[in-house]
Amino acid sequence: MNKQYRVGVIGATGMVGQRFITLLASHPTFNLSVVAASERSAGKTYEDAVQGRWLIPGTIPEQAKSLRVYDAVADLNQVAESADIIFSAVEMQKDEIFALEEQYAKAEVALISNNSAHRWTPDIPMVIPELNCGHIAVIESQRKRLGTKRGFIAVKSNCSIQSYVPALYPISEQYPIESILACTYQSISGAGKTLETAPEIVDNIIPYIGGEEEKSEREPLKIWGQIEGGVIVTATEPSITAQCIRVPVSNGHLAAVFVRFKNAKPTKEQLIDSWENFVNPISKHNLPSAPKKFLYYFTEDNRPQTKLDRDLENGMAVSIGRLREDTQYDYKFVCLSHNTLRGAAGGAVELAELLCAENYI
Ligand SMILES: NC(=O)c1ccc[n+]([C@@H]2O[C@H](COP(=O)([O-])OP(=O)(O)OC[C@H]3O[C@@H](n4cnc5c(N)ncnc54)[C@H](OP(=O)(O)O)[C@@H]3O)[C@@H](O)[C@H]2O)c1
Repeated sequence: MNKQYRVGVIGATGMVGQRFITLLASHPTFNLSVVAASERSAGKTYEDAVQGRWLIPGTIPEQAKSLRVYDAVADLNQVAESADIIFSAVEMQKDEIFALEEQYAKAEVALISNNSAHRWTPDIPMVIPELNCGHIAVIESQRKRLGTKRGFIAVKSNCSIQSYVPALYPISEQYPIESILACTYQSISGAGKTLETAPEIVDNIIPYIGGEEEKSEREPLKIWGQIEGGVIVTATEPSITAQCIRVPVSNGHLAAVFVRFKNAKPTKEQLIDSWENFVNPISKHNLPSAPKKFLYYFTEDNRPQTKLDRDLENGMAVSIGRLREDTQYDYKFVCLSHNTLRGAAGGAVELAELLCAENYI
């Protein structure tokens, strides 16, 4: 990947947007060229727009500070003309995001979104690069529908499923899975907040995250889907049930997972082997943001831990531990990923790198 690309962020002032700005500041081939947010921030410098609400460890990157913030809606054409790739981290009404992202694609940019608005559009790939990279081929039929030459939309999945689907997907290829029960323990940054800006979570657990359980049960089936007739046909199994809980940690979504297999259950060693020897289908590209090793299995009884392990491989690896037999399901285990890196901005940047390497951008 030596070619240089002009890159923009819409929703650049929010929590995920700020992550994008930090990741792009040190990127070898993506050059931050334009930032946009709401009309509240438009016209200010980026530094002024995020004044008093910079949420990421470290300071605002120098190259972003003096950029003028555009209005992601009103200045769409100017923003689109200034970038080859746009990362979308806007928080608006779903139908507004749906329309806005399509307008950017029609303005011939590659739009990579963190939002859920387009996750169920059948010709839009929802990609965890190490798992279902083949789904990007559906972009050809999407471009025909949109009438674009270069423009398209690709999306990330919800952050919650990125802790447990990466652990289950490689297993399921060898040992078909019948059912999954997942309980997620999700950080406050998943709500765009910090422990300081969300005092209600300190010394507390909140047993409800709106819409999260539905997404956690449904989205894995698109990841497990197949391209047929120019669309992604969602898988009908495994059956998944989820409970999603907000816990008082800053970053990192941990999941406690129970799994039942369709056929004779594999041994514990076979499961660990599927993780430790996972064959990464995109390793040949050596993408700048990809972890050297995607899945880590910890043998210690008290790992993975959110605080200790979320930053593994710059927050892009998934850690797994505590695999043991269960009395009701076949096995249970725990897994963890960083929700704003692997689960949001980092995963989106890696997806854009993959799309460049595969000549979609
Ligand atoms: N936080 C996570 O872990 C996570 C993980 C996965 C996906 N996501 C998704 O990523 C997106 C951003 O989440 P977040 O937590 O970063 O949200 P956030 O902190 O609330 O930031 C929202 C961003 O959207 C902009 N915005 C709001 N209304 C707008 C409008 N009418 N027109 C243009 N821009 C507008 C805001 O600009 P102003 O600053 O000018 O208001 C801000 O830049 C959401 O769609 C969320 O579902 C978040």
